[in-house]
Amino acid sequence: MKISYLLVIMTLSALLFSCKTEHPSLPAVIPMPVSMEVAIGDFVLKPSSRISYTGGVEAAAVAEQLAAMLRPSTGFALNTSEDSDGDIRLVTDNSGEWKPEEYRLSVTGRRVTLTAATPEGLFRGIQTVRQLLPPQAEGSAIATDVDWVIPCVDITDYPRFDWRGMHLDVSRHFFDVDFIKRYIDILAMHKLNVFHWHLVDDQGWRIEIKKYPRLTETGAWRVDREDKPWNSREPQQPGEKATYGGFYTREQIKEIVEYAAERYITVVPEIEMPAHVGSALAAYPQYSCTGGPFTVPPGGVWPITDIYCAGKEETFTFLEDVLTEVMELFPSPWIHVGGDEADKTEWRRCPDCQARIRNEGLKDEDELQSYFIRRIEKFLNSNGRGLIGWDEILQGGLAPEATVMSWQGFEGGVAAAKSGHQAVMAPVSYCYFNVYQGDPATEPVSFSGLLTLKKVYSFEPVPPELTPDESKYIIGAQGCLWTEYITDGKTAEYMILPRLTALSEVVWSAPENRAWEGFSARLPKMMERFDAMGLTYSK
Ligand code: ACM
Ligand code: ZN
Repeated sequence: MKISYLLVIMTLSALLFSCKTEHPSLPAVIPMPVSMEVAIGDFVLKPSSRISYTGGVEAAAVAEQLAAMLRPSTGFALNTSEDSDGDIRLVTDNSGEWKPEEYRLSVTGRRVTLTAATPEGLFRGIQTVRQLLPPQAEGSAIATDVDWVIPCVDITDYPRFDWRGMHLDVSRHFFDVDFIKRYIDILAMHKLNVFHWHLVDDQGWRIEIKKYPRLTETGAWRVDREDKPWNSREPQQPGEKATYGGFYTREQIKEIVEYAAERYITVVPEIEMPAHVGSALAAYPQYSCTGGPFTVPPGGVWPITDIYCAGKEETFTFLEDVLTEVMELFPSPWIHVGGDEADKTEWRRCPDCQARIRNEGLKDEDELQSYFIRRIEKFLNSNGRGLIGWDEILQGGLAPEATVMSWQGFEGGVAAAKSGHQAVMAPVSYCYFNVYQGDPATEPVSFSGLLTLKKVYSFEPVPPELTPDESKYIIGAQGCLWTEYITDGKTAEYMILPRLTALSEVVWSAPENRAWEGFSARLPKMMERFDAMGLTYSK
């Protein structure tokens, strides 16, 4: 074909298939890239194909991850080497202007060229390369009768938000290291970059702390009432053994943090305070107002009155010790300190808490909570970390540098942004994946409530009442998975998929590139990928 003729066809097809008017024959990439143009032809991956990279050891690691992903299904060797002439080229080039995490992908009949300024950009880019291949590429055994082709495309892509997160509660039910890695893999393929790990709650303390061994010896275990409904479980009785639970050792935590880092995912640990700490108080009752004794509750607790004492100095010594070990394990710039749902009944009758209110000139128990969080923030800041907490940390006044995770609605995030604080949006109504996604009659037992895929997709993290300047404080959004009713990994996968797939487009793609019809047309291909990966998901 003459070159001019080809150019005309390419231009026409680019116009036709430009993703602004999403065309059904566009490759089914989720989240939708910033710009994607399709040309005629395919690149064919062959047994002799080679992956080259420039950019040193981190680029090498990304090239190796791409090869490792494709070797089992293709059976090809896919050798990687540091040069510039592989069939698939990963190029590190930080000249010129690049957005954070940006990658550019050019596929011609001769080669695939993925360029980015950083290895992180390359890593996001290989997620797109995966999706341009047939779904069988995701399989763990050799797939035969597959044409390993990638359509010719030109893609420029970068995320809308810096914080693209997914949370997992491992307290209400414990999930093992293998599942946590699988969960991180799911986040990575969706180009998410934050794993919010809810390690502490009333029903189980899940992180080994050297200085306070009883946190896991006692706090990680509860009596087994799994045969009873969550909210009608009798507390542990005298003489009963607590046998149900688990925790992560320091070594396991390091392994997971490293695994996530290799996927350019930050693990943000959540160490709850002052409430949701029944497990900690069962181990160390002296840090409560009453002194206990307490047992780890095997099911629902409400209201949450047994909380850390804000009057005793020893409470803060304990928490600073715990956070010091947490910071050793987690390089995350943020440490999540919970802050939600504290019932302050005990603070009202505790002489130590009341003395603290008087001595600090605080107005009431809300201001005492604010004192508590500010004090912890100061400690974290002095160690070079930032504090993030659920939106209740606004009560009694927000700590000076705090980031707010807005869960009860949008209001907390709006208040934070209007006062110059960063906020992550995770409103229950769009982001809590622990409620039903379909007819309860045919779904696993969940929290009551319905959050459909379409509603997740319609989520707009930046509330309209914010000015453009204020909007900059909305650094992103995340999904949450609370596990009161989720006892195993397969159910956890089912609850997040494909709602997480919808959320990934909310947090990554430009709003003008988002359309429910286009997403629904691309989703079945993603589901074929889930099938090939053996993931459990809602159809
Ligand atoms: C929460 O759901 N209590 C943050
Ligand atoms: Zn107290």
